[in-house]
Order: sequence, then C-alpha cells, then structure tokens
Amino acid sequence: MNRTIIKNGTIVTASDCYQADILIEGETVKSIGNELPEQNADIIDASGRYVFPGGVDPHTHLDMPFGGTVTKDDFETGTIAAAFGGTTTIIDFCLTDKNKPLEDSIQTWHMKSKDKAVIDYSFHLMIGEMNEKVMEQLPAIIDNHGITSFKVFMAYKNVFQADDETLFQTLLAAKDLGALVMVHAENGDVIHYLTEKALAEGKIEPIHHALTRPPEIEGEATGRAAQLTDLADSQLYVVHVSCEEAVQKIAEARRKGARIYGETCPQYLMLDQSYMEKPNFEGAKYVWSPPLREKKNQDVLWKAIHCGDLQTIGSDQCSFDFKGQKDLGKNDFTKIPNGGPMIEDRFSILYSEGVAKGRISLQKFVELTSAKAAQLFGLAPRKGTIAAGSDADLVIFNPEATRTISADTHHMAVDYSAFEGMKITGEVETVLVRGNTVIQDKQLVAVPGSGSYLKRETFNQQHSPFRETASM
Ligand code: URP
Ligand code: ZN
Ligand code: ZN
Repeated sequence: MNRTIIKNGTIVTASDCYQADILIEGETVKSIGNELPEQNADIIDASGRYVFPGGVDPHTHLDMPFGGTVTKDDFETGTIAAAFGGTTTIIDFCLTDKNKPLEDSIQTWHMKSKDKAVIDYSFHLMIGEMNEKVMEQLPAIIDNHGITSFKVFMAYKNVFQADDETLFQTLLAAKDLGALVMVHAENGDVIHYLTEKALAEGKIEPIHHALTRPPEIEGEATGRAAQLTDLADSQLYVVHVSCEEAVQKIAEARRKGARIYGETCPQYLMLDQSYMEKPNFEGAKYVWSPPLREKKNQDVLWKAIHCGDLQTIGSDQCSFDFKGQKDLGKNDFTKIPNGGPMIEDRFSILYSEGVAKGRISLQKFVELTSAKAAQLFGLAPRKGTIAAGSDADLVIFNPEATRTISADTHHMAVDYSAFEGMKITGEVETVLVRGNTVIQDKQLVAVPGSGSYLKRETFNQQHSPFRETASM
C-alpha cells in the first residue's frame, strides 16, 4: 500500500487552521500529527503552503447537448482543468428525456464519463415530468447509482422547463426518498414572452439576453420554489443565484427555518451586465442564465456567502467556443448557447477575491468550495474535509504566488476565458485524489479514467429531520 506524508503544511478545514503533517495510506488519510512514521513513505514538503480539502464543485455540464450544440469540455478536458484548478470532485447534471426510461439517460452519462475523468464525479438527475411511472423509477436510481439530488428547470421553455406541478411533486417525492431538489429559478414563461417581443422589435444583440431576464423574474421563481418547498415540507437547493431579489427570498425562507440552500458562482461575484455590451459580439462570451447583473448585486452576494444565506460556490461549467458555438447567435441573441468556462477558475478566484482580499476567512473558503457541498450532496465526511478516514483528496496551495488568467494558459478546451487578463493571488501546485497525485508541481501526472464514480448518501442520512437553523 502506498504511503505518503505531506509535511510542514498548514491544514485548513471548514472549522480549523493549524500546522501538522498528514499521513496517507492507500486512498485515505490515516493520521494527522507531528513526527509521523516516515519509513517507506513518499514525502511531499508543503512548507509555506496551505493544504486544503480538494474542491467539490456541485454544478457542472460536461459533454452536454444544449443550445443547438454540445458543451466543449467533456469529462476528460473538463476534469483535467478542474484538477489544475484544485477541484477533485464534480457533480454533473444528467439530462433526461420524457420519452426514455431514466435509467437509459443515466447510462448515457456513464458512457460519456467512462475512462475519461481524472477526478471523482457523480451525477444529479434532471426531472422533466413527474408521474407514477417516473416516481416508480426513483428508489432504484438512488439505490443503484447513489443519485440523491434531482434537478428541476423552471426556465428554458419548450426545452427543459418543467411546470409547477412537476416541481411540487418532485419536492414531495424527494421528502419521502430523502433526496435534495435543485432548481434553476427563473420564470421561463415570462422570459419567453419578453424574448419574443424583443426579437419582434429587432433587438438581436447579446445585451438583450439580460434585458429580457430581469432580476425580478429570478426573485419571483426563487420565492415560488421556496413557498412550494415549505408547503411540501421538503428540501431545496437553488443553483446559480445571481441577484438581490433571489437572495432575499432564500434568506427569508431560511429565517423561517426552511431547509433551503443557495449557490452562487464566480461569474456573478466578479462580472456584471456591462460585459454583455462589449463590441464585436464579444458580449456573447458573457451570456449566462441567469444573466450577469448590475454591479450592485456583487456586494449582496459577497455578504450572503459571508453570513451564510448562500452556502456554496458552483462553477456552472458549461463551456462553448466563441468561434463556432457562441456565434450561432450572431443575428439572434436567443440562439447564443448559454454558459461559460469556469471549472478551472472557481477555486482560485474565490481564494484571490475572497481570502486574499479579506472578504472571507480561510475556513469559510473551505466551507464554500468543498465542505458544504459535500455535506448537502451526501459525500461527507469522505469529501470536503481533512480527517482520519477521509479520502486523501488534497490541494497544496501557494498563497504567495501570483498569476494572470488567460485562455493561452488555461486547460479548458475553449478558445476564450471570461477572466482574460485578471491578476490573481494564490496558486494550486499539487493535487491528490484518493492519495494519487494528479497534479504535481503544476504538471498533470494522472491518466484519464483514474477518477471514480461516486454513489452518494441521501440528504436525510446527512441531515437531521429537524428544521434548518438560519446560521448553518
Ligand atoms: O447559462 C447557463 N447557466 N448554462 C448552463 C445551464 C444552466 O442553466 O445551468
Ligand atoms: Zn441553470
Ligand atoms: Zn448549470
């Protein structure tokens, strides 16, 4: 069995920050302390470095058909980029089709990822309709695949959008099964009306993507999902929260004790709506749903992650090349594939803009980038912490290094970076997944297929049945 000791580093978890050595035996952390037995062990010197739990990214779309094309990064390029960026686990969204058994869709996702990933991965399952036939399939999906989170889209009318009856029934089913329901919260019907109207008026540029999806539409859908969750006495996770209107609805529901959680993403913390007005169609690079918001929302989001109204940071990795994919919408903003490359930068941006700029503590950084997602999605304590018995998923991080983000040096397969030219502090140097080195001194040393599929526990196995406390 391979033995490795990581020496002289500063270990950071969601609750602690201390200097100690870590002994890894096989795939897990064996012990933490000083003067650990060094015989037959490989030694990694982490002097002057932080040792973080590997990042857990709860929101990715790899190799996913969307917007008339397919996301550029697949499970190989996407997970390699994730590893370079300090992420050792992702949970990807498995799309489903109303005309197919759910099992077939899951097998499609297993095929997409087979022999490709260099980090560990799991799947959420999209629910497009809810009826007895669908309901019957869910217990086996939880047992056989450990898929314990279901995603309902409240937007993308005529594509992914589900109605409120589907959302409510999914919440009821999730309560019975101990699963967590995730929502894309925007009012798809109103967006449909506003986009049709804009196009009829000849408004075709990327900025109209934002103008036809105003923040009120996200706030309304978030509030509706929260109310339905309360009525069903179920649990809800709101993905990619972008604005004050949505934060308020989540905070309000949590104050009442609801089991409601929220995620935001680096793009909403760092970029704003003005990027979508860049000339020469460059605004298309910044088309996400929900859209980038007015700058004032950034402060609201930073405060919300600081005080615990939002609990996680997802990348919402959904990458498309500028040339050949984003330009499908050159003459019609509704045809610009929605999403951007973010899997590699999620961890580093949060460190640089959060910790290095004094907005959040080191422990909060770990909570946001790994610990809370691991807990909510049934992966703790295997993932998201550094403790005896946990998977040895570790990131050795140099807090002093500085670098500039660029598409010329990133590892994602896309031809642009949303953060081109941005100078950041802190750098991922070495990354281990279950004790195996994946990135060594900034070089890839793992082979595709070394990552494993993770079956996850249910939400109920990791949470008390009592109502959520607002400070969690
Ligand atoms: O624009 C986005 N967010 N693209 C990915 C799909 C989704 O809605 O999460
Ligand atoms: Zn979404
Ligand atoms: Zn997404």
